[in-house]
Amino acid sequence: MPKSSTKMASVVYLLFGFHLIVIMSSSLPATSEVFAKQYPSTEPVEEKLTQLHFYFHNNITGEHPTAMKTVLPPKGSIHGFGATYMMDDPLTEGPSPTSKLVGRSQGIYALASQHEPGLLMVTNFLFTLGIYNGSTLSILGRNPTFIKVREMPIVGGTGIFKYARGSAVLTTYVYDITGGVAIVEYNVTVMHV
Ligand SMILES: *[C@@H]1O[C@H](CO)[C@@H](O)[C@H](O)[C@H]1NC(C)=O
Ligand SMILES: *[C@@H]1O[C@H](CO)[C@@H](O)[C@H](O)[C@H]1NC(C)=O
Ligand SMILES: *[C@@H]1O[C@H](CO)[C@@H](O)[C@H](O)[C@H]1NC(C)=O
Repeated sequence: MPKSSTKMASVVYLLFGFHLIVIMSSSLPATSEVFAKQYPSTEPVEEKLTQLHFYFHNNITGEHPTAMKTVLPPKGSIHGFGATYMMDDPLTEGPSPTSKLVGRSQGIYALASQHEPGLLMVTNFLFTLGIYNGSTLSILGRNPTFIKVREMPIVGGTGIFKYARGSAVLTTYVYDITGGVAIVEYNVTVMHV
């Protein structure tokens, strides 16, 4: 390189080099593994808050139950500990089973407490109405069904609810143990992008 252009380059470097390095390094991945690249966090994205209200219908009776026991509790278990159900339960606008369908709860609930009726719920709420059609919310929570108002965390979501986190507050609307039917009111508050 001729001397003059070297000098020029160092002047340019002095004037702009530092800034260039800063700008470049902030857009370059901080790690350089092929399978994983980490970037500095971007501008904060504005989060949206959505409130949902619907009713969940669980019906383990009849020819086409919405939930089925897939694992029996072991012998001698207390409070049905270990029993596991798979559900594909309707979610509706109102409390009546014939009310407008807004989605389904597709997942598992299992009796996870030996001390009181307490469920482990691992389920996805799939919404099917309007702009929400195809979007999901994932719930992973403890549901102590004997308590009037319960709360379960929303741990994620897809579609409209991408990057979701939030809280589901629920209360039993109808519980008919002999009829095998439970209708539960849900108020869900969710933050998402
Ligand atoms: C529960 O399901 C049975 C049959 O599958 C049906 O006869 C009954 O009406 C249902 N109960 C409710 C409250 O939806
Ligand atoms: C929701 O989406 C599915 C598949 O994309 C489609 O078959 C269905 O008709 C849609 N339902 C409503 C209510 O828009
Ligand atoms: C849900 O919100 C409505 C309206 O604020 C309220 O009347 C109802 O009691 C709430 N239900 C639950 C289960 O939190």
